[in-house]
Amino acid sequence: RIDEQEIRLLPKAEVHVHLEGTFALGDILRLAKENGVALPGPAATIFDVSTHDGFTRPEVSTGGTAQGVGGAGLSGFLRFLDWQCGLVRSGEQAARVAYSFAARQTASGVRYSDVIVNPTHWNAWRGREIALMEALAAGFDEAEQDGLGSANIAYSLLRGQSAAEAEQLIGDLVSRRPARVVAVSVDGDEKASGRTGEKFRGAFRLAESAGLRRTVHAGESSGPEGVWDALDLLHAERIDHGVRSIEDPALIQRLIDDDVPLGVCPRSNVTLGLYADWAAHPLPRLVEAGVRVTLNTDDPAPLACTIDEDWAVAAEVYGFDRAQLARFAAESIRASFADDDLKRELL
Ligand code: ADE
Ligand code: ZN
Repeated sequence: RIDEQEIRLLPKAEVHVHLEGTFALGDILRLAKENGVALPGPAATIFDVSTHDGFTRPEVSTGGTAQGVGGAGLSGFLRFLDWQCGLVRSGEQAARVAYSFAARQTASGVRYSDVIVNPTHWNAWRGREIALMEALAAGFDEAEQDGLGSANIAYSLLRGQSAAEAEQLIGDLVSRRPARVVAVSVDGDEKASGRTGEKFRGAFRLAESAGLRRTVHAGESSGPEGVWDALDLLHAERIDHGVRSIEDPALIQRLIDDDVPLGVCPRSNVTLGLYADWAAHPLPRLVEAGVRVTLNTDDPAPLACTIDEDWAVAAEVYGFDRAQLARFAAESIRASFADDDLKRELL
């Protein structure tokens, strides 16, 4: 097995990680205490999201590639994120979450992150989404000053939102342009909300005209059609997950022709029930097919993983050698929305 320390030392970026999925247990307990909020159960079960109704543990995975992530897996997980992010009420608390994320990334050898933030989970900030972005940016600024890795934000829409809500939020974002927000994103459960490409087309057009980058969750809770929509209707430059593209050879060719990287997260897909186990995951087939692939964690805290550990597992399960891990590292930097100077420094 390739040593995790060796993996940590490879200069790398993480491009598919949700800030909502990085709260350490200690951070959650402290936030709950500060706000006088009762825990839903014993501290040790906070990440056993079944206590927040509906999250399925890997042992009871719904499995099956045809089904996709359905019902309890992803949607229960998203309800857990609402509960947890609801604990962040002050700007100082938000900045602390951001700082803590930067420290965690640095400890895993991640020098730069495109971090997804979906304001709908942070229910104390409804109507103050830009203020939330500013508070998080303050935490990232402080982290960078302290020598930790840097991060930019991909501002995410939730699939269940309406076209009007999306256009209002992105309109606001584009007119205020908070620091560190470099991209827009779509996440959430496509199974629960139906196809979303058409609905968010207007919002994404606004973002694109304002020079914001674009990344879209697709080919996870949706099949290949979600990826086609992300490319054709939202002009996605990167696809989060995208793993079910493997079911459509024409789509694989399109990803290659358009040079669109995927933000793949094997552990997340297995834990949330999309694939039965790592061996069944299409990651090695995507690499083999010549698609640009990055290897990420999605939601490392509740999934109880780190990126260095997951790269080591991937190397072991799929037989990736050191050269392939180095290619993943370089690809993560190239696929990121870091500015060109930082990319040059890291590559
Ligand atoms: N939000 C956090 N993790 C997610 C995932 N894996 N899919 C969709 N939305 C998410
Ligand atoms: Zn994700």
